[in-house]
Amino acid sequence: MAVPVNVMGFFNFLLLLSCCFPFSLALQETHLPQINSNSVLVALLDSHYTELAELVEKALLLQTLEESVGKHNLTIFAPMNEALERNLDPEFKRFLLEPGNLKSLQTLLLYHIVPARIEPHSWPNSTSHSLLHPTLSHHRVQLSREDSSGAKFIGTARVINPNAVNRPDGVIHGIEQLLIPRSVQQDFNNRRSLRSISAVKPEGAPEVDPKTHRLKKSVPPVKPGAAPVLPIYDAMAPGPSLAPAPAPGPGGPHHHFNGMRQVKDFIQTLVQYGGYNEMADILVNLTSLATEMGRLVSEGYVLTVLAPNDEAMAKLTTDQLSEPGAPEQIIYYHVIPEYQTEESMYNSVRRFGKVSYDTLRLPHKVLAQEADGSVKFGHGDGSAYLFDPDIYTDGRISVQGIDGVLFPPEEKNKEEKKTIKVATAKPRRGKLLEVACRMLVAIGQDSRFTTCHV
Ligand SMILES: *[C@@H]1O[C@H](CO)[C@@H](O)[C@H](O)[C@H]1NC(C)=O
Ligand SMILES: *[C@@H]1O[C@H](CO)[C@@H](O)[C@H](O)[C@H]1NC(C)=O
Ligand SMILES: *[C@@H]1O[C@H](CO)[C@@H](O)[C@H](O)[C@H]1NC(C)=O
Repeated sequence: MAVPVNVMGFFNFLLLLSCCFPFSLALQETHLPQINSNSVLVALLDSHYTELAELVEKALLLQTLEESVGKHNLTIFAPMNEALERNLDPEFKRFLLEPGNLKSLQTLLLYHIVPARIEPHSWPNSTSHSLLHPTLSHHRVQLSREDSSGAKFIGTARVINPNAVNRPDGVIHGIEQLLIPRSVQQDFNNRRSLRSISAVKPEGAPEVDPKTHRLKKSVPPVKPGAAPVLPIYDAMAPGPSLAPAPAPGPGGPHHHFNGMRQVKDFIQTLVQYGGYNEMADILVNLTSLATEMGRLVSEGYVLTVLAPNDEAMAKLTTDQLSEPGAPEQIIYYHVIPEYQTEESMYNSVRRFGKVSYDTLRLPHKVLAQEADGSVKFGHGDGSAYLFDPDIYTDGRISVQGIDGVLFPPEEKNKEEKKTIKVATAKPRRGKLLEVACRMLVAIGQDSRFTTCHV
């Protein structure tokens, strides 16, 4: 999916040239499509449709478009910047920018590009003669004209700046609003409704845990603070182990909750519960995870932690932990940015069969399904059962004990290779910490963690 560096680099180089040297430049490397400095694509990146140009780059579409413009003229319907900033539903924009939804973003953008030259005179003369054109997203868009005003339309968007850019290999028409193909709208709606159903909060948690017959912590009523404006990923602290570059956190602290206290509470509960010491150790000692979680909860976010028990943690091999940042990555894959209890998850998997939850390890999701009257997470061999339900639930943080360590499916192959070594590797408690400290020493970060000096 990634655009080869040389293509991107070359494109930027062209962009640089286009301002000052309006000559046409043939590529030296013959296997690349030929792009001229006066191409409509170069013009797009250089135009005042900066929001669109940025999205095209983010969607990794430049190469596709370079290839396409080599074959035919392109007509680009470019929404004005405001249409992609203020006038766009922030939730929808967030959806588009999530790495997991790259396909939707690409479809949306390609829906604005017709592989043919459409000039202003190509518009039909009256409403009764609308024309359909196939786009690069394979959906068709309609060209039409409003009878009364004579205004030109593309789909539902008015063309406000026809021929904003006119180049030998294509044209750009400025339009008033974004065009949203139905399939993308549907993806967005499905996601939203699944979220609202799966996020249903259970009522009145039972007082006694049927498994352990221990009295449970009563659930304090939670004052619903102002919902965070930004997705949780934007609020997360920057770190080398996190995939996305985080934006600044939500403006102004909302001190509705003492998130740090709640995190300490749940870690203490984990320790008292028994069998989760490794997880507790990691949260307190290894990383700034606990601090980070506390901060997120203070800002109004909710979290569900799938805590692998000690037996599961002991099976981790040195190999699995040797990549830089691996322990953090592992834990982030076990934190869901939603408040879920055993009941709400069980209801979802019974209702939908399979449900995938976002994790703090973007863009990886964790799959849940019903199995043996319980909830099973993960795929195939790398799966784990919900083993100790509702170890901690306070309305903001939920902790569910599981009997395995989960890995994103992409890493399954690696993991399978490693399972051979599990037999020979001597599993013991604290290995995760040990390896992590070695890593931290290597990068000079060990002083931040007290455990590494014991
Ligand atoms: C693009 O359109 C121009 C003007 O109609 C035409 O001369 C040129 O051959 C077209 N290019 C391609 C690749 O079809
Ligand atoms: C619209 O009308 C003009 C003049 O009557 C004509 O030249 C043009 O081809 C028409 N366009 C379409 C798309 O029918
Ligand atoms: C964190 O490390 C310290 C020092 O090694 C240890 O005493 C403490 O028990 C650890 N915390 C937890 C929760 O295990």
